Amino acid sequence: MNRVIDQTIERIDPHAILARQFSRAWFFTNERIEPLLERLPNTDRIQSVFGVAGSGDFALHAASRLRNVSRIDVSDVRPLALLTTDLKIALCRTLTPEDLEDVFRCRDSENAQSVYSAVREDVSAETRAVFDVIFENAAGRNFIRAIRKSGYWYPDGFRSVRRDAGYLPYLLPERSLALKAKIDTIRLHAGDFDRALSRFPDRAFDLVYVSNMFDSPRYCRDADRYLATIRAKLAPRGFVVSVTQHHPKKIERIFLPHGFSCAYRERHRFNILKAVCGDFDYSYLLFRAD
Ligand SMILES: C[S@@+](CC[C@H](N)C(=O)[O-])C[C@H]1O[C@@H](n2cnc3c(N)ncnc32)[C@H](O)[C@@H]1O
Repeated sequence: MNRVIDQTIERIDPHAILARQFSRAWFFTNERIEPLLERLPNTDRIQSVFGVAGSGDFALHAASRLRNVSRIDVSDVRPLALLTTDLKIALCRTLTPEDLEDVFRCRDSENAQSVYSAVREDVSAETRAVFDVIFENAAGRNFIRAIRKSGYWYPDGFRSVRRDAGYLPYLLPERSLALKAKIDTIRLHAGDFDRALSRFPDRAFDLVYVSNMFDSPRYCRDADRYLATIRAKLAPRGFVVSVTQHHPKKIERIFLPHGFSCAYRERHRFNILKAVCGDFDYSYLLFRAD
């Protein structure tokens, strides 16, 4: 199929990624994504979602979980995050549910080259340019191990996916089939969240997902501007799912002046033992547009 990543805002340079000129990305989420949509009232109402790409797992989760979703747009300033999501879309679209679970959770088969060649033609040219190098000398190696050992991704998440059958709910057989049916609703945009979201009409999205976006000025230099954009692009009665490493109250203080009320918050305290295992279990909040 040869997917196209929208690069209107920013161009992706595969050589710069391979030269490690960008921060690493997450191959698997470091969040517990299962509860993130559970508190939303009437999920059948949700047709359009915008979010940060990150590892891509939230978008895959939403596609497998929201029965009536017809578009899921994600953006990221970290180009490798988009290429990761692109590769995972191709895997979800091409493999059977059993094979997908096997590829993500098992580490003993020497499947690197067979799995990559099954999806190589389905990904964007930029994704192919990077993964061709990663899988160049991968004969006889495991697909996920080859990715992990390359050092382009943070180590978070790999262990949780292997150990915990429920960590990625979209791998469950019936969810995996639902995901396959919705996989082409996911569209990728390179560049800043605020600029990518601004290009859509007002009230275009029923749900917006932000992960750690308001935790640091490195991600979000102007929280007021970002929140004004999110509020304008949310449909009436729309929701924002916000994941944070901070105390949830701190994030509430940032959101509430912008026409949101907090519909739910779940606090997870930092746990050193979990963090050592790469499982951060961040807090999350659900905001409703007033
Ligand atoms: C801490 S990571 C969250 C990853 C997430 N926990 C997951 O598991 O997928 C935050 C993601 O948001 C992206 N990001 C941060 N600020 C952004 C911005 N202004 N526009 C677009 N993406 C942004 C980062 O590049 C990163 O991929």
